[in-house]
Amino acid sequence: MIKSNQNFSRLPERYLFLDIAKRVAAFSKANPEADIIRMGIGDVTRPLAPAVIKAMHEAVDDCAAQSTFHGYGPERGYLWLREAISKYDYAERGVNVQPDDIFVNDGAKSDTGNIGDILSTDGLVGITDPVYPVYVDTNLMRGSVIRYITCNEENGYSGDIPDAKIDVIYLCYPNNPTGAVITRAKLKQWVDYALANGSLIMYDSAYEAFIRDPEIPHSIYEIEGARKCAIEFRSFSKTAGFTGIRCGYTVVPQELTVSDGRGGTVRLNEMWERRQSCKFNGASYISQRGALAIYTEEGRAQIRETIDYYLETARIIRKSMEEAGLEPQGGENAPYIWAKTPKGMTSWQFFDELLNKAAVVVTPGSGFGPAGEGYFRITSFADRDRTIEAMQRIKNIL
Ligand code: MLT
Repeated sequence: MIKSNQNFSRLPERYLFLDIAKRVAAFSKANPEADIIRMGIGDVTRPLAPAVIKAMHEAVDDCAAQSTFHGYGPERGYLWLREAISKYDYAERGVNVQPDDIFVNDGAKSDTGNIGDILSTDGLVGITDPVYPVYVDTNLMRGSVIRYITCNEENGYSGDIPDAKIDVIYLCYPNNPTGAVITRAKLKQWVDYALANGSLIMYDSAYEAFIRDPEIPHSIYEIEGARKCAIEFRSFSKTAGFTGIRCGYTVVPQELTVSDGRGGTVRLNEMWERRQSCKFNGASYISQRGALAIYTEEGRAQIRETIDYYLETARIIRKSMEEAGLEPQGGENAPYIWAKTPKGMTSWQFFDELLNKAAVVVTPGSGFGPAGEGYFRITSFADRDRTIEAMQRIKNIL
């Protein structure tokens, strides 16, 4: 008989958000009259910006005529989009990221999961805990050895710099799930550690658009030396409501090299192009045209307004939680709010209690790793009135 990939036996039975969806579906089936408020998965609820809609309509029209039809796109994404990313996401902040460093994709989740294809499984992989489960699950699938880097209140949810060598380090800031941000000084410590140890940092900055504090770095490339030791993942999902459209990008700097295992070095940019051109056929022309519209004057103003809406929702959540004595964290430069469960409940106990007694869905902290046990996460990607209603229901059962 053909043998399955044995590494799958190291995975939790279900992907966290599928697990939650199945539990909520079972509850809904048993309680068809329940008015469920979903604040679990960080899926956007506001419609796309008008500038994006217009651009995508035009792109569809292009595809309706022989002379403007688009088939397969360039393997790294259309140059016009990569130039806009380079200019507006980086150059405007004084950061050097060139169009040739950029690979447009169908969202950050795919690339954070797939990037391991270009690395050996020999190295030790360090993953902050609690964490977005994709980094852990995908590394377990490919047989990597993982070490958790505990993040807690004491280290500002940005981990202690390890005293031994870790080869590949996953960092995500603004953080999912804790909503914490990383200071420039701390990020510099991580970059310096990577440069000194020949480590590679996988930097997920999918939530950078939520940063309002000017002192907080948006990109790891704001730190000197990072082009030699870091890959960065960005997404239009949370920035511009693209969770259903699918488009994002990965930055693999031209000068980023690793050992080729034969005494030489190899450029990861070249390897990633090789991997992507073989296994991926690009984000659609229509979604890339939509993404380009995010960088127009009106597009930028419109998406900022939407993010401001979510941040205001986050503020309301924090305030209600404080009133309920829950000591929330995050939600100021990030869409997620993180808090200890009340009455010493485990994360899943509190999840069940909220679902059964209040019909409110949150994310159990332990689903994000061992350090998340005893915590829960609430997302601000929710409708304002429903959020207020959810917070009232939570207060009522505490
Ligand atoms: C989350 O809720 O953590 C995110 O929505 C998951 C994702 O972006 O894939």
